[in-house]
Amino acid sequence: MMNQTFSIIKPDATKRNITGSINKVIEESGLRIIAQKRIKLSTKQAESFYSVHKERPFFRDLVQYMCSEPVVVQVLSGENCVEKYRSIMGATNPENADKGTIRKLFALNVQENSVHGSDSEKNAKIEISFFFQNEEIVG
Ligand code: CMP
Repeated sequence: MMNQTFSIIKPDATKRNITGSINKVIEESGLRIIAQKRIKLSTKQAESFYSVHKERPFFRDLVQYMCSEPVVVQVLSGENCVEKYRSIMGATNPENADKGTIRKLFALNVQENSVHGSDSEKNAKIEISFFFQNEEIVG
């Protein structure tokens, strides 16, 4: 089934000027980037976006990191998009990520792991609407 997912190219990647390299992996997998913008997250936005993790020991560091440099927020589309993007991203910790995945290729460590992708269709819808208006998603 054709559907959509939400992606973030994170500060460690924008800082190293590798957003194009990451987009190349996304596009070569067959997924389409149907909306994209480069923004600087505010502390409030990052806290709200990652609120499910607010009790975790890494929460403060995560928020600070996500606001440290610009990010690129994206909407991706394709067949089984949520699962497909998670499989090409690789495991959260790049040490455990499979060969050829974005995190294996580019991530620095478990926090600076280059990309975020929604973990379910329900969360994809919530996360897309956090950053994009319907008219910004052009198919
Ligand atoms: P993401 O998929 O965006 O979801 C939550 C983020 O928290 C995760 O990627 C990492 O950037 C970060 N994270 C997850 N686990 C840890 C951890 N054990 N230590 C530090 N950061 C983490």
